[in-house]
This record gives sequence, structure tokens and C-alpha cells, in this order.
Amino acid sequence: MKSCYLRAAMKLLVTGIAGFIGSHVAERLVGRGDTVVGLDNFDAFYARSMKERNVSSLRGHVEIVDGDIGDRACLDALLQRGGFDAVLHLAALAGVRPSLRAPWRYQLVNVVGTSHVAEAMVAHGVGRLVFASSSSVYGNNTDVPYEESQRVDLPASPYAVSKRACELLLATLCDLFGLSASCLRYFTVYGPRQRPEMAIHKFARSITRDEPVTLFGDGTSSRDYTYIDDIVDGTVAALDRAPNGFSLYNLGGTRPVALAELVVRIGRALAREPRIVHEPMQPGDVLRTWANTARAERDLGYCPRVNMDEGLTRFAEWLQHNAVD
Ligand SMILES: NC(=O)c1ccc[n+]([C@@H]2O[C@H](COP(=O)([O-])OP(=O)(O)OC[C@H]3O[C@@H](n4cnc5c(N)ncnc54)[C@H](O)[C@@H]3O)[C@@H](O)[C@H]2O)c1
Repeated sequence: MKSCYLRAAMKLLVTGIAGFIGSHVAERLVGRGDTVVGLDNFDAFYARSMKERNVSSLRGHVEIVDGDIGDRACLDALLQRGGFDAVLHLAALAGVRPSLRAPWRYQLVNVVGTSHVAEAMVAHGVGRLVFASSSSVYGNNTDVPYEESQRVDLPASPYAVSKRACELLLATLCDLFGLSASCLRYFTVYGPRQRPEMAIHKFARSITRDEPVTLFGDGTSSRDYTYIDDIVDGTVAALDRAPNGFSLYNLGGTRPVALAELVVRIGRALAREPRIVHEPMQPGDVLRTWANTARAERDLGYCPRVNMDEGLTRFAEWLQHNAVD
């Protein structure tokens, strides 16, 4: 017999809606009938035109407010309208290497901004938060695959510090004010609309233009790459199913790939031969990431489905029609 599961539609605030992950998550939520209000300041980290393109299919279905998570009055004005069931907080300055150029800015935008979001939620009685944390909190931990129970007190970049600080802050605010916050440690996310400075997007652009791909290090560093649809599944599941109180989950693809191998696979997806130039490892970069996702499987039913070759093929198709200038 077919089981009948009726889910009440929710009203949600999505911060960072114009970004890579935020726009995909919002599309999924709108598609299943939730009411979404988006907040984004269209930060200049990459071109506004790309972010406008990210949300083009959402326009008309979603109200998108051009505002800043650092602006408490803006958050108050939104949440005091009432009726919000949860906030998906994805807005941040992302990226490890750029965080070395302005460590203070990453703390200001990410940590202070997250505090504003959580405090506004408490003030307006919104009880559930899903927060985009990062695998970078594991730093150069050699104990792989990474588990949420491991100590994470040696982050390797100001960006990683900001994400770990947000986790600690949210754990404390949950204890103090009865908030429920689920922190999702995303492991290198890729797919259509990936941020232009991220490795797969950058390498694919170079290969398409027949320019050399610059690899930092000897090519043996590895990442656990996660396809965007799997990240959306895990994020929406956290919204629907995470336990009350504070929780932490790894969301990864669970099959790390070495950098040199990644370039070969991107070349295959683009049907081009990559040319490679080696440069020294960059400060702030870590040697490896690798997620143990047992906790997310158990609590959220998370199960990454898209293998890397399939994911890269979908990304390559998208890139053909969406080349960055
Ligand atoms: N992409 C990844 O691989 C990855 C991995 C781990 C964690 N994350 C986290 O996931 C989230 C989304 O990442 P993404 O790759 O989609 O990045 P993104 O840069 O594409 O999206 C972030 C969005 O937040 C907005 N934003 C930045 N500062 C803001 C502010 N002060 N107020 C309002 N909006 C602001 C930006 O304009 C952007 O649209 C971030 O929190 C990021 O740190 C991403």
C-alpha cells in the first residue's frame, strides 16, 4: 500500500539566497510548496550579474530582499512580519584563500552576522535555524574520515575560524535561549552555479580556454567533493528532521579525489586535454578532507547519490551555456 505523508508547508527565511547553494536550496523549497523569503546583499565577492542569474528562476515566486545580515534592523523588519517556521542561514563570506587577505572581515560578516540572525530569531520567536558550516573546521586533522565528535580547535584559515566560531556561538545560544540550530559541515560543493573562484569552476574555465591549469602542491592533496543536489537533500532534511537543540552534521560525498585526478576528470567531462602548471601549496589550504556521514545518514536519512563523473558532466553542460566572462 502506498503510504500517505502530508507535510505542512513552511514559511522560511533563506539568507544568501542569491549564492550558489542558497539559490539551489530555495528552488527545492519553492518546488515543494514552501513560502520562501530571501535575503542577500549581493556582496561583490563575485559578480552581481552571476547572482542575479542564480535567482532568475526564483523571481516572481520568492520575495528577495537586498539586505545585510549585519543589519539587525533589516532582520527585525523581516522576522517581525511573523509566521516564519525556520531560517536557513547560508549568507557568508566564503572561501579559504581570500580570508587570508582580510581576516577581520570574515569574523565581522560571518560571526557577527550569524549572531544578528540568531538574536533576531530569538527576539521574534523563530525557533529553528539551519546553518551552513564547513569541513574547513577540521583543519589539518589527520584522523580521517572526519567525524563530528573530533576536536576541532586548530582551524587553518580565518574562514575556518569564523565557521567554528559560529558553531560555538550557536551551541551557546541554543543552551541559553532554547533555540534549535543544526550546523551542516559542507564538504567542497560543486555543480551548476558553483562560485567562480572555486577549483572545479576555475579549472574548467582554464581548460575550456585552452589555458594551463595551475595546481598548488604536487597534486596529491585531496578533497571530498559533494554534488549540489546531495547538499540540497541534506540541507532540506536538516530543516525537516534535525532534532531539537543543537546539532552538527557532516554533509560530504564520502569519496575523496586527489587534485591531479580531479583535473583529469574535469578534462574528460569537457572532452579536452588539460595542461598543468605546478605551484607551491598555498597558505591556509589543507591536505585533505573526507567526511564520515554516518550521523547524517542516521538522523537525516542523508545519502549522497551523485558520483563525481556524473556531477562533472552536469557541471560541464551548465558551463557551456553559462560561461563567465
Ligand atoms: N560552496 C562550498 O563548497 C561550501 C563549503 C562549505 C561551506 N559553505 C558555506 O555555504 C554557504 C553558501 O556558500 P556558497 O558557495 O553558496 O557561497 P556564495 O558566495 O555563492 O553565497 C553566499 C551568498 O551570501 C551573500 N552574502 C554575503 N555576505 C552577506 C551579508 N553580509 N548579508 C547578506 N548576504 C550576504 C552573498 O552575496 C552570496 O550570494 C556559505 O555560508 C559558505 O561558507 C560552502
